[in-house]
Amino acid sequence: MTAGRERKNQLALFRPHFAAEVNIACRDNLDFMAALPGASMKLIVTSPPYNIGKSYERRSPIDRYVREQERVIAECVRLLHPEGSICWQTGNHVQNGEIFPLDIVLHEAFRQHGLKLRNRIIWHFEHGLHCSKRLSGRYETIMWYTKGDNYTFNLDSIRVPSKYPNKKYHKGPKRGQLSCNPMGKNPGDLWIFPNVKHNHIEKTIHPCQFPVELIERLVLALTNPGDCVFDPFMGVGTTVIASVMHGRSGYGCDVVPEYVEVARERLELLRAGALKTRPMDRPVYDPAQPHGGLA
Ligand SMILES: C[S@@+](CC[C@H](N)C(=O)[O-])C[C@H]1O[C@@H](n2cnc3c(N)ncnc32)[C@H](O)[C@@H]1O
Repeated sequence: MTAGRERKNQLALFRPHFAAEVNIACRDNLDFMAALPGASMKLIVTSPPYNIGKSYERRSPIDRYVREQERVIAECVRLLHPEGSICWQTGNHVQNGEIFPLDIVLHEAFRQHGLKLRNRIIWHFEHGLHCSKRLSGRYETIMWYTKGDNYTFNLDSIRVPSKYPNKKYHKGPKRGQLSCNPMGKNPGDLWIFPNVKHNHIEKTIHPCQFPVELIERLVLALTNPGDCVFDPFMGVGTTVIASVMHGRSGYGCDVVPEYVEVARERLELLRAGALKTRPMDRPVYDPAQPHGGLA
């Protein structure tokens, strides 16, 4: 096995940057945000409840849900740094078998604050409910908004290997030179990361936690070391973990004490260099390949 492949098959064990601060609490997000200074967060990334009756939420009529989300979004906009980004990760609200894609439902709430949509990232994964009356859902979206036109975007930090890294120009003044960026290519707006189901190394008691690698890519692209990142629906603290791993300060809150406790435990493991996460550059398991394509 080559050294590169060996690295891909290991789990990531990170020692965090100790300069990074952590501020997490078991609190309602509007209360938590009220105490934070305006323009302080370079990145706000979250996945809100989808109003579908999960254990941590109460189903409410869709217009009431939207009003509640609007209040949280308005407060997030106040906290957002002028060069900062908001990434709202959502799926579908479902009512009597009819789907309401929440990115469409909530888009106007961001537009009314003058935020600009930079990408609608499709996050594709393989596992989930098997539907019998419609096609099974195998993607969710991340709406990436910026406050202004001058925003942090570190493309080189998130490049992925090019398909044909040695391809060269075959004519013209650059003939013979590499035609692609030797640092790799732009990862595009279709992201494939396994979702956190029972056999995932990061699985906790939370029914819908983010994979750490999904948030790492956003943190690396949309912030610089030392910046602050916030998750108003923190769950078991994945956003805070991905931030601290890369030397950013992590802020977050959740109303369920058990989730906040798990977040604290995960951060303790991270501090001790013992938190296991799936590495960002690990290929997705492919049953058609020998050893799932991982060997
Ligand atoms: C989809 S989950 C987020 C999971 C998270 N991304 C993770 O990786 O663990 C939504 C979370 O929002 C929390 N929540 C719901 N209402 C809230 C509120 N008003 N303030 C803070 N958290 C809230 C729920 O307890 C739930 O853990």
